[in-house]
This record gives sequence, structure tokens and C-alpha cells, in this order.
Amino acid sequence: MMANVKVPYLDLKAQYQSIKPEIDAAIARVLDSCQFVLGSEVAAFEQDFAAYSGTTQCIALNSGTSALHLALLAAKIGPGDEVITVPFTFVASVAAVLYAGAKPVLVDIDPSSFTIDPAAIEAAITSRTKAIMPVHLYGQAANLDPIVEIARRHGLVVIEDAAQAHGAKYKGRPVGSIGDMACFSFYPGKNLGAYGEGGAVTTSNPEYARAIRMLRDWGQDRKYHHVLRGYNYRMEGFQGAILRVKLKHLDKWTEARRAIVRQYSDLLVDCDIETPKEMAWGRHVYHVYTLRADDRDGLQATLAAEGIQTGIHYPVPVHLQPAYADLGYGPGAFPHAEKAAKQVLSLPLYPELPSQAVAQVAEAVKRAVGDKTQIVGSR
Ligand SMILES: Cc1ncc(COP(=O)(O)O)c(C=O)c1O
Repeated sequence: MMANVKVPYLDLKAQYQSIKPEIDAAIARVLDSCQFVLGSEVAAFEQDFAAYSGTTQCIALNSGTSALHLALLAAKIGPGDEVITVPFTFVASVAAVLYAGAKPVLVDIDPSSFTIDPAAIEAAITSRTKAIMPVHLYGQAANLDPIVEIARRHGLVVIEDAAQAHGAKYKGRPVGSIGDMACFSFYPGKNLGAYGEGGAVTTSNPEYARAIRMLRDWGQDRKYHHVLRGYNYRMEGFQGAILRVKLKHLDKWTEARRAIVRQYSDLLVDCDIETPKEMAWGRHVYHVYTLRADDRDGLQATLAAEGIQTGIHYPVPVHLQPAYADLGYGPGAFPHAEKAAKQVLSLPLYPELPSQAVAQVAEAVKRAVGDKTQIVGSR
């Protein structure tokens, strides 16, 4: 059971307090204009976020799941097609493929980055494969060069699931600009979070962008002329206005996250756990700080008893979830994903987290798991 919370996993109020006048003014603008769905604030956010992501187009939507769904539909992926992605992700990555009527084909992760193992992709390609969907898990880019190279060789579309990776870089380039399309979530706890649901697709392909713009708004090319079977996936005006304000602060918040991560990793260096690694190919934006511990559940319980909230991203890989049993993969199908699901634990992390709280969490972790140097020394 959780003792009184001393260090919360996330504190959205602290961030709101730090930018309250700007947010309140943005909300007032939407109230004044009464543009509650799409409208000028959403259009302006689309321009800002496309520029931030290094693409010519951004289409704002009502969730990251909708973004994945419409990216797949824009690529004309449907029944009879296969999409390659990973089992170690939030369930939406796989669910979106099923929304499109296609079949998710899963491959294991590379255990050091927690992202798709490019070496496992080629064996999963069949004549029905249409796309590869790497997930930039925890805020770290997947190893995109070999993925794009394989995709080009086989004529496949690359759809980046960048839901957790706003501002992450791959070899100096922003994620969202490297695949054919990329999908972002603005769920409130994300690095760039709305005050409600939100999502977007970024792309520099005008045809994909046009299809997604129509599909988010009932497939209309003009009012009441439905050329595609579309959806109600539009972004709300409030969310566009709020996201525009928050985007201006994102790089500063990412730097704050990275400083906290350095503090955690320095303090935990001799601990009997594995701290997260930033791969040489990119700039990690640390949506979450996820360590590996052999006795993860014990560590989580000990921290909870000290009032420290943690998260598990994710305790059960998608292929072992009851709802997805019919994908046909059993236990043992993806050893790296299954091992990660047993070991991972995410520590409190948000830009406003005070450094004494970081020290307090690290101390509690150290006490709980012990010190590697002492264990080795005592043998
Ligand atoms: C990797 C990943 N993909 C997709 C999604 C779906 O985004 P949303 O919750 O905005 O629908 C999420 C977010 O929760 C996610 O973490």
C-alpha cells in the first residue's frame, strides 16, 4: 500500500502553475473566438509543430491512437495487409493496426534501447507486408537508418510511433521527419501534453497529409461531400491553443528532464540495477526514466512504502495480453520483450521535479537494492 505520497510520479499542477498566465490567456482566446473544434489556434499549432518536427505538414487530431489509425489508412493499409511492429509498447501501437483491418506482425526489441531490433525485421517480411512501425519507446528514437533502408529495399512505408518522443533526435534529425509519417500523442502526461486528449501526424508527403485531413473530418473534401469514409478525429480548439503555448517551453523542459536523468544515473551508478542508456545514434528526451531491476516488484513495493510513486511501462507485452491472444504468439515468442516487462520500473520524472526529491528517490533505491561494489567486495 502507498504511504502518504512524498514524491509523486508526475505533477501536472506544478507545470500549469509555472505557465499559468500564458495558458489562461490562450484559453481566453478560444473562448472569445468560440472556435472550439479545429479553427485558427489549431491551424497555428499545426504550423508550429511541423516546423519543430522538420516536416512540411502536421495534421492535428484528437489522440495519438487516431494518428496511428489515419497514418495507416493514408498509406492505404487494410485487410490482407501486414504491419511490422513490436510487442513491447503501449497497446495502441498494435491496436491501431487492427483498427485499419490489417494484421500486426510482431518482432522482438533490442534490449539495450528497448526499441525494435532492426536485425529481426527482415525475417518477418512477407508478400503482404506494407509497413514497418518502429516505436520510439520512453522518448528514445529507434535505430531508424537500417529500418528505412530495409523498408526502401522492400517497398514498405515507415510510420514512426513517436507518441512518447517529442523533440527526440536521430543522428541530429528530429524524429517525426525520418519515416514517411510519424504519429504523436499529446495525452496530458506526455512531454508535450494537452489538457485533454490530442494527437498529430507529421509528414512531408502532401498526398498523405491531404488524405489525413479529410479522414479526420468525415472524409469531406468540402462541406457535406464525403469522398472517403472518414471519422470524427478533429482536435479541439482549446488543445491547439494550449499546445502552442507549451511547445515554446518544450526544449527547456527536455533539458530539465535530461538534467534529472543525469542526477539519477550518477547517484545510482554503483547500484545493483541497470540505468537507462542513451544510444549513440540519438538524443533521448526521457518521457520516462526506466531502470531494470531483478526484483522489480520488491523494489516498487519498498519505494511505495516510503511514499515514492513509480510506474511500470509495461508489465505485460501486447502479445501476452488476453485481448490479443488471437495474434497467435505465446509465452517465449519474444524473450527480450518478456524479460523487460518483468524488470522495468519507471522512477518519478517531470521537468519541475526538485533535485532534493531526485536525491531522496535515488537514496531509497540504493537502500532497497544494495550496492554492486559492496556485493562484489563481500564475496
Ligand atoms: C507508444 C504509444 N503509442 C500510441 C499511444 C496512443 O496515444 P493516445 O493515448 O494519445 O491515443 C501512446 C500513448 O498513450 C503511446 O505511448
